[in-house]
Amino acid sequence: MFEKLPGQVTVFEVGPRDGLQNEERFVPTADKVRLIEALASAGLKNIEITSFVSPKWIPQLADGADVAASLKLPADVVTSALVPNLKGLDSAHAAGVRKVAVFMSASESHSKRNINKTIDEAVTTLSEVVIAAKEKGHLVRGYLSVVFECPYEGSVNRDQVARLVERLLAMGIDELSLGDTIGAATPGQVVSLVKLLSKSVPLEKMALHFHDTRGTALANVVAGLESGVTTFDASIGGMGGCPYAPGAAGNLATEDLIYMLNGLGVKTGVDLNKLVDCGALAQEIIGRQLPGRYLKAALASRDKASCMEAKK
Ligand code: HMG
Ligand code: MG
Repeated sequence: MFEKLPGQVTVFEVGPRDGLQNEERFVPTADKVRLIEALASAGLKNIEITSFVSPKWIPQLADGADVAASLKLPADVVTSALVPNLKGLDSAHAAGVRKVAVFMSASESHSKRNINKTIDEAVTTLSEVVIAAKEKGHLVRGYLSVVFECPYEGSVNRDQVARLVERLLAMGIDELSLGDTIGAATPGQVVSLVKLLSKSVPLEKMALHFHDTRGTALANVVAGLESGVTTFDASIGGMGGCPYAPGAAGNLATEDLIYMLNGLGVKTGVDLNKLVDCGALAQEIIGRQLPGRYLKAALASRDKASCMEAKK
């Protein structure tokens, strides 16, 4: 049916960062640590644990250093953290984070709102950060946000995206994550953007980062898989959003992604049942229901099973 599915993919968990940055209330450090450790126990090997950005801009993640210091994770889990500048890099380095993630936007308006810089200023800063990060021995992920649609400017020019991707690669990033920040893309757009960018980015370096605002994230993953991409970002329970991108709903839920990949016979090394426990934990610590659909279904059937057990 699908002709080009890979045997295995990497799932990059962003819930503790993309998810928690968007929660109104501050989640206590110990709860963040519990959640990250549970995600690792479920088999996730790539986890973005926090951000080292300005606490004035993202107070929800102001405890990044404490989170990193408290974590007990298996040695094969690669932790990453978002860094906007050299100050953030120094903090991430001191915290012992393995991978640092620089980020910029493909539209001027989102760039100004998110990091208070023009695109050119962001390129200058990121170049310095990537050089310094490499000198310190870090792996570097580069995010390019709003690659399909910007909440302020509408549809984003693909040639502009391609130019910025080339600039990011020239800096020496190890991995590029393409952000559908407000969850607006549809599968045909994914296929055509991946095809365009694959002229300059090896597919094994490319990750797709979908928010699920309009319900197209899973279909977009299939489009990405069929286009040869093998790394997908997701967030436990579908937490997430960008505080500086109005209308951005949660990320693609990790459990929804794993459920679909299991069904397609694509291996991830992640235990879906344990992931449901992580989703339940995430709901408990943030104090609200999450939008992930598999999570809802799995918890409902667990409730039903325990009701039937009690009636026996
Ligand atoms: P600014 O206000 O223009 O810059 O912020 P500044 O250099 O004047 O700094 C302001 C204050 O923050 C200063 O403190 C700095 O020291 C401090 P003060 O002197 O006023 O007391 N500061 C820092 N503190 C700790 N760590 C740092 C740091 N840097 C400065 N690293 C800045 C510019 C870039 C710092 C700010 O705009 C910022 O932190 N923005 C981050 C916004 C953010 O995290 N957005 C969400 C993540 S992006 C996203 O979600 C998209 C993604 O998921 C992909 C997708 O979906 O597309 C990745
Ligand atoms: Mg995001």
